[in-house]
Amino acid sequence: MSALVLKDLGKVYADGRGTGVTAVKDVCLNVEPGELMVLVGPSGCGKSTLLRMIAGLEPVTRGSIEIDGRDVSRTPPKDRDVAMVFQNFALFPYMTVFENMAFGLKFRNVRKEEIRVRVHSAAEILQLTDLLERKPGKLSGGQRQRVAVGRAIVCKPKVFLFDEPLSNLDAKMRTQMRAEIARVHDQLGATIVYVTHDQTEAMTLGQRICVLNHGAVMGVGSPLELYREPQNRFVADFLGSPGMNCLPGRLTRDGGRIRFQIRGEKASLVIAPNADELPAGVWDRDLELGVRPEHIGLAAPASEEPDAVEASVDHCESLGHETLVHVKLGGARLIARCSDDPACLPKGGGRIGVILERVVFFEPGTGQRIQ
Ligand SMILES: Nc1ncnc2c1ncn2[C@@H]1O[C@H](COP(=O)(O)OP(=O)(O)OP(=O)(O)O)[C@@H](O)[C@H]1O
Ligand SMILES: [Mg+2]
Repeated sequence: MSALVLKDLGKVYADGRGTGVTAVKDVCLNVEPGELMVLVGPSGCGKSTLLRMIAGLEPVTRGSIEIDGRDVSRTPPKDRDVAMVFQNFALFPYMTVFENMAFGLKFRNVRKEEIRVRVHSAAEILQLTDLLERKPGKLSGGQRQRVAVGRAIVCKPKVFLFDEPLSNLDAKMRTQMRAEIARVHDQLGATIVYVTHDQTEAMTLGQRICVLNHGAVMGVGSPLELYREPQNRFVADFLGSPGMNCLPGRLTRDGGRIRFQIRGEKASLVIAPNADELPAGVWDRDLELGVRPEHIGLAAPASEEPDAVEASVDHCESLGHETLVHVKLGGARLIARCSDDPACLPKGGGRIGVILERVVFFEPGTGQRIQ
């Protein structure tokens, strides 16, 4: 049995004009027991609304929510057996770490001894044991964050709900806390729904990822499945930094080679896969080609290089371990990821060897991947 089942879940907020704002649209999703599911999508796509509906903080407009086989769509929050960690996890400043973590349990009339055991056990997992008597004002951002997670852990909920819990931390601390949340997840075997707008967080933390846009599910799968074989152009572009390059055009055959003729441009790019490695429905038609930056091979122009095309390097962003090379092909642009120094490429423009090593194709209208 799934730990959490969302069926055709929808939310329309009243906007005083009668039409309403559709924040969540027909979301269907199963989260398995012990799974860490990440909901990711751009700002305003309905992530918090979805999470708040699961928690019972926001009424459902349509559809249903099941937790452990029980329909809780209309159950009050305190009876749903979920615990939520918010982005602005306000701790009580005048209470110690222990009291902050114990607060929710006292509220639920849990016995004193049981509270002590639960808080100490959570503190151990979160490495807070030595800080239990401190007040939040004397903790670092990361430690405060762990107290907020501790408050949820002591409730022993069936499902943990995290709404962007790391977005107030600096980049280094986020990386640390990410590892810590993954460790806590392993230790507790907990079912977690984790919301973020950060695709790196989604890729590194999620066992599965659900990508949302405008309140609707755009794709669900393991991080690598979604990265390598995105269901559509939106997922392809959203995951990855930078996202997938997309170019409109057509495939052509040129002797033994397959090329991609970019629409409206002179340049036609050689692709590495053979015809039998491509989906059947990609010939003699308009489509969009998708290629990850790391699957673009750039080479210095050898004079008679058959793969070479007229191109120019717009600019390079060096990140130390890799360089992002912005290439202009007439009006079309590509971003390639290179591990070597691309200094040998002609800056002002000239012939550059370009080969697309791995490609996917999308329907130009709907953006669905052609399989
Ligand atoms: N109480 C509300 N009343 C009316 N509209 C709302 C309300 N709360 C959210 N919305 C709208 O619903 C949509 C989804 O909002 P939501 O907060 O769920 O997005 P989000 O994905 O969590 O965004 P973010 O990443 O910025 O936190 C937005 O268009 C938002 O303006
Ligand atoms: Mg939000």
